[in-house]
Amino acid sequence: MALDPFVLQNPQICVVDAFEALVGFHFEKGVNAVCWPRDLEGDFAEVVNRLDVPQGITHLTEELLHSLDLSPAGQKAIEVMLADMERLRERALLPTLDCVNGYTHEIESPVRTDVCSFHADSATVQADTWLCTYHGASSEGLRNDEVICRVDVPETREELRQWHAQEDDMPFEEWLEEHFYTLHYAPQPGAVPFRFGTGNLWRIALQYPGSPVPPCIHRAPDPVPGEKRLLLIS
Ligand SMILES: [Fe+2]
Repeated sequence: MALDPFVLQNPQICVVDAFEALVGFHFEKGVNAVCWPRDLEGDFAEVVNRLDVPQGITHLTEELLHSLDLSPAGQKAIEVMLADMERLRERALLPTLDCVNGYTHEIESPVRTDVCSFHADSATVQADTWLCTYHGASSEGLRNDEVICRVDVPETREELRQWHAQEDDMPFEEWLEEHFYTLHYAPQPGAVPFRFGTGNLWRIALQYPGSPVPPCIHRAPDPVPGEKRLLLIS
């Protein structure tokens, strides 16, 4: 599958041609996402169709995948996913394979803090997020100059202040962080998201103290009823 042209035009993304280049890349000079584009062999749709999973996110084990009754193309898809898992584990990462069948979150507060809202991942120590969508709609991202932190939007900030006043006696700024509101972003007018695409393996920068680059702002696609996604995340 061809790369989204917005990926190629985005100065914050570096496209590489091998796994080693993805691993060895140093985030600097504002580049906060690296993509290894791939056309994968295998029938991932068949795997998804054979999975009987409840609503929400199901972690797929190797045993479960091997228990599926699949054609050779479906088997190939499983081999590809397990090989990706293995190469990330060899790098001391902890990948999971997930089947996403909608989300079970409920949106109550004035600011969304779910994975379908543009956000930065965060950690307390140096780390990054690895991501590959094998089947279904892929994640999407925005350049940092195309977003505004939701807590910096005056109307939102005011709503949050009122919400905070009813709820908590923790200092406001601390409360914003505690509830992850500072990690969520609104697109600026005219912002055009880039799609991560299916099959491509991505490594994106997250927010942690001392990070040399701003975090990559991204989101999971809105769920489509009846459509399951298959993805790797670490
Ligand atoms: Fe995320």
